[in-house]
Amino acid sequence: MLCLTVPTDAAWIQHALADLNEVLVDHAHCEMKAAANALSLAARHPDDMDLVLALTALAREELDHFERVLGFLRARGLSLGAPPVDPYARELRRAANPIGRDGGLVTRLLVGALIEARSCERFKLLIEALRDRGEPELLAFYEELFAAEARHFRVYTDLAVRAAGGDRARVDAELAVLARQEGDLVRRLADEADRATVHG
Ligand SMILES: [Fe+2]
Ligand SMILES: [Fe+2]
Repeated sequence: MLCLTVPTDAAWIQHALADLNEVLVDHAHCEMKAAANALSLAARHPDDMDLVLALTALAREELDHFERVLGFLRARGLSLGAPPVDPYARELRRAANPIGRDGGLVTRLLVGALIEARSCERFKLLIEALRDRGEPELLAFYEELFAAEARHFRVYTDLAVRAAGGDRARVDAELAVLARQEGDLVRRLADEADRATVHG
């Protein structure tokens, strides 16, 4: 899906369905981090007003997602709690570092795009599984988010092309390298996983 090189392991959806509450708590943290990362990227490039505005709009949407996941947590009597261990984003950023150019902006935007792509892929799995579970509100929410995160993937890749001075070929090549690294990471984390998270 999108640019992903490795599909999510089939065991993932079984873990997810066995503990949807845990998925929701992890998902809430992911949305909060998505908003925070968009703003921290904007803060690194304060002189680029178009970039700052695009990332601010994106952060606002992620914050809206966060607030709405919190609504599901509250309805289920859950609390947000401390952030779960999340090696996915940390290791993806670490792996991406060596190919950083332009102060790393293109790479950082593409890492953002990949995180969106993986969210999309897993939301799709959740949507398919939730169809028979009698959770219509949750199903509708994930259908909406699937479309939103797919759009965010395109926002990040378009911003990367812009940051690369319009050099789409360079961005496509860099995204392909990062997508292979992301695929290796997802495969490795699946071997270690005993629970379902939105990413890793
Ligand atoms: Fe989101
Ligand atoms: Fe997103």
